[in-house]
Amino acid sequence: MSSGGRRRLALVAALALVVLAADAGVTSEYRRKLEATVEMPLDADVFRVPPGYNAPQQVHITLGNQEGTAMIVSWVTPSELGSSTVMYGGAPHKLELRAEGTHTRYDYFNYTSGFIHHCTLKNLKHSSKYYYAMGFGHTVRTFWFTTPPKPGPDAPYKFGLIGDLGQTFDSNRTLSHYESNGGDAVLFVGDLSYADNHPLHDNNRWDTWARFVERSVAYQPWIWTAGNHELDFAPELGETTPFKPFSHRYPTPYRAAGSTEPFWYSVKIASAHVIVLASYSAYGKYTPQWTWLQDELKRVDRKTTPWLLVLMHSPWYNSNGYHYMEGETMRVQFEQWLVDAKADLVLAGHVHAYERSHRVSNVAYDIVNGKSTPVRDQGAPVYVTIGDGGNIEGIADNFTRPQPSYSAFREASFGHATLEIKNRTHAYYAWHRNQDGAKVVADGLWLTNRYWMPTDDTN
Ligand SMILES: [Fe+2]
Repeated sequence: MSSGGRRRLALVAALALVVLAADAGVTSEYRRKLEATVEMPLDADVFRVPPGYNAPQQVHITLGNQEGTAMIVSWVTPSELGSSTVMYGGAPHKLELRAEGTHTRYDYFNYTSGFIHHCTLKNLKHSSKYYYAMGFGHTVRTFWFTTPPKPGPDAPYKFGLIGDLGQTFDSNRTLSHYESNGGDAVLFVGDLSYADNHPLHDNNRWDTWARFVERSVAYQPWIWTAGNHELDFAPELGETTPFKPFSHRYPTPYRAAGSTEPFWYSVKIASAHVIVLASYSAYGKYTPQWTWLQDELKRVDRKTTPWLLVLMHSPWYNSNGYHYMEGETMRVQFEQWLVDAKADLVLAGHVHAYERSHRVSNVAYDIVNGKSTPVRDQGAPVYVTIGDGGNIEGIADNFTRPQPSYSAFREASFGHATLEIKNRTHAYYAWHRNQDGAKVVADGLWLTNRYWMPTDDTN
């Protein structure tokens, strides 16, 4: 080869290195302080039972319909049934409206739940603050929430993104951190209490968890996804009904979404259409979830709700050794649909670490063509694993190496994220690790909408 040829070859090689370097993902070497992830003790202040006889406890709210004009209020009375009534109104001493709820109880092995009340407040106005109270006849407690704005193309909204929270000291840090950052609602990607990690699936830990998170979820809706720790399937205890504690405690507005089960459904919030999928319910072809999702994607109207967000528990793109490829069968089943639907962001939990993908798809493979590698695809969603809430099982510090090309950023730290939708074209996504101050962004980027502005936005 001539010296000119060698120079050209060297130049090409150097350029290739630059391109490769620019393309490489980040495996953050940030090291959290190495300490055990410890459950908060039962006498911790966050688990305190509210004072007063039979006082309502474990108060939580979630959206009650698709438009954001209904709210399901849930709570537990521990000693006796009491009342399932909620009084509500525009001022704390002017609760002029009244709704009647229902109650339920359940037994789980040697545990019997308190009286679990669910009451749906309907015909609410958008973007309005409501005060609400329950516990009439014994101990009244009052809370408040603000309804989301009317679904519309440029309605701004800020979501908190939390998963796999549990009830350890780290869980408490995550929740406090989120509270400092101040979102309007939480998209929760599954694994709530980790009660099943305790002897006999100690369901008292479902109660303590609900008292722990009340300080947030009584004041803003959390959108629930079912994780594997919601299954509580324990034939050895005679408990063979999957999701028994979860489904008694955490209702979802699935009927309003045309779904037949509470574990897969959708809500519209401001300018977002949020689809919740169930990793632990059947999703193969012709199953109820498969049929529902096929129909649901046709109902998404990007002119009204430009942002299409999808929640599930088990991630489709995960380069951690923990739970590796567990989401693969659902990816194979549904990825093409989400790419075709121009989904913006897919959120999952399950893996107790943080990871964000580039915009990639892996839909070209047809079992004989060998195209089984994810490729950059600007029409595809960004995948985020946010299972780093801080539960008792600890951090998943076991990333595969080298970092695969689809993975943009990954770090084994606890934290949470926020998604701040500004208008139909732009949203700011930010991940916050617990060790930093609340406002520090450890991984952030502007997302541009796949329907309205499908530009290259991953970096
Ligand atoms: Fe999980």
